[in-house]
Amino acid sequence: MPATIVLGAQWGDEGKGRVTDFFAEDSDFVVRYQGGNNAGHTIIVGDQRIALSLIPSGVLYPDCTPVIGSGCVIDPKVLLEEMDMLAGRGIDPSRLRISANAHLIMPYHRKLDLMLERHLGSNRIGTTKRGIGPAYTDKFARTGIRVQDLFDPDIFRAKVEVALDEKNRVLTRIYNQIGLKAAEIADEYLAYAERLLPYVADTALLLWEGLEEGKKVLLEGAQGTLLDVDHGTYPFVTSSNPTAGGALIGAGIGPGAIEEVVGVTKAYISRVGTGPFPTELDDETGDRLIELGGEYGTVTGRRRRCGWLDLVALRYAVRVNGLTKLFITKLDILSNFQTIKVAVSYESDDGAHVEFPRQHRVLYNCRPVYATFEGWGADISAARSYDDLPASVQNYLGFIADEAKTPIGWVSVGPERSQLVTV
Ligand code: GDP
Ligand code: IMO
Ligand code: MG
Repeated sequence: MPATIVLGAQWGDEGKGRVTDFFAEDSDFVVRYQGGNNAGHTIIVGDQRIALSLIPSGVLYPDCTPVIGSGCVIDPKVLLEEMDMLAGRGIDPSRLRISANAHLIMPYHRKLDLMLERHLGSNRIGTTKRGIGPAYTDKFARTGIRVQDLFDPDIFRAKVEVALDEKNRVLTRIYNQIGLKAAEIADEYLAYAERLLPYVADTALLLWEGLEEGKKVLLEGAQGTLLDVDHGTYPFVTSSNPTAGGALIGAGIGPGAIEEVVGVTKAYISRVGTGPFPTELDDETGDRLIELGGEYGTVTGRRRRCGWLDLVALRYAVRVNGLTKLFITKLDILSNFQTIKVAVSYESDDGAHVEFPRQHRVLYNCRPVYATFEGWGADISAARSYDDLPASVQNYLGFIADEAKTPIGWVSVGPERSQLVTV
């Protein structure tokens, strides 16, 4: 039963969109299994740039069914805008299937996200302000509103009223905000419902039937391992499970279906938002990585923090996801550097750390221990086979694979769809 998981091995923005697009060509289904429109996945085909936040990256292939699984949180307005954007560009989004069990991001979730961040002040997470955390909070508090609730307008209105009764108390009494109106929210969402309902399905059943028939399923993670609410750098994380376990839950399939777990990692590392970041380069080299790598958020436009590749974190991603292969992106960006570093361990007052430290105190205070490589000083963006890559690049890749104890399956050398090498 051939299912593959593609997930981020870092703090997000590893290039999962382009990697998913690459695998999607041979897939029958591409499933987003968690997160919402906090994600921004970029695909570049020729001179066309397509940025997706919620719709799976398989949508570009007419034979592929894109699925939004139950583990996702959906802002219906954003989803409809994304469908319209695709249609406007000649890409047919009508094959999309949306889980009836996925939760809805409501206007009060967006408002609460803003208020919570403001309340946290200097301890803020630096969220995307899309209402993700509050929507997942309601899911686990069992007060969330799901896509299937849109089927019955009376029930939907009643659920919004009950939810808003409590949210308005918080908004008005704790945060001094003007309360929201249940009828207005219900009217707005029920109008979206008319457009969305044709796409709503029992997506777990759809995938089960597909797998039984030998169809190929690709599971597309959003965010990354270090943003996972269980395994990431909590509390500076998102509110879902981007790790491999989350793929099974969020899509509704069992572990036996999984053949391959591909971890996507840049040849360096970035993070957007706050939180510890051992290899962060707060200097000219970091600025060059940001500028040359175009490290500005797809969703929020925020400048990403950048640093050298962190093998301690990568080994951790291999372990918690059971990665079977690595896909290394943005290798071309390193062509601009005379010296390239890779963190192999950390040093702290407690000693050496080869494993990702459990305690945040250590993550904040450790010093990376680097292996240093001489740059290859050559443009590799036209490489299309492993043999096209200079020996020094092959040496660099070999080192990463050895240290991560995981084979590198693919390397990308530019953002365009064709700019990649199968190792
Ligand atoms: P995602 O969230 O993991 O899908 O990644 P994003 O799309 O947010 O960010 C990755 C960025 O890097 C996008 O702008 C991609 O077009 C770009 N990109 C992906 N692979 C490569 C590559 O190999 N080289 C270069 N130069 N850019 C890349
Ligand atoms: P993709 O899928 C990078 C970060 C936010 C913040 C934290 C919590 O494009 O890789 P949230 O809005 O989820 O509550 O924010 O997570 N974050 C991302 N960082 N890439 C993403 O998605 C992200 N989605 C959320 O910056 O630090
Ligand atoms: Mg992104």
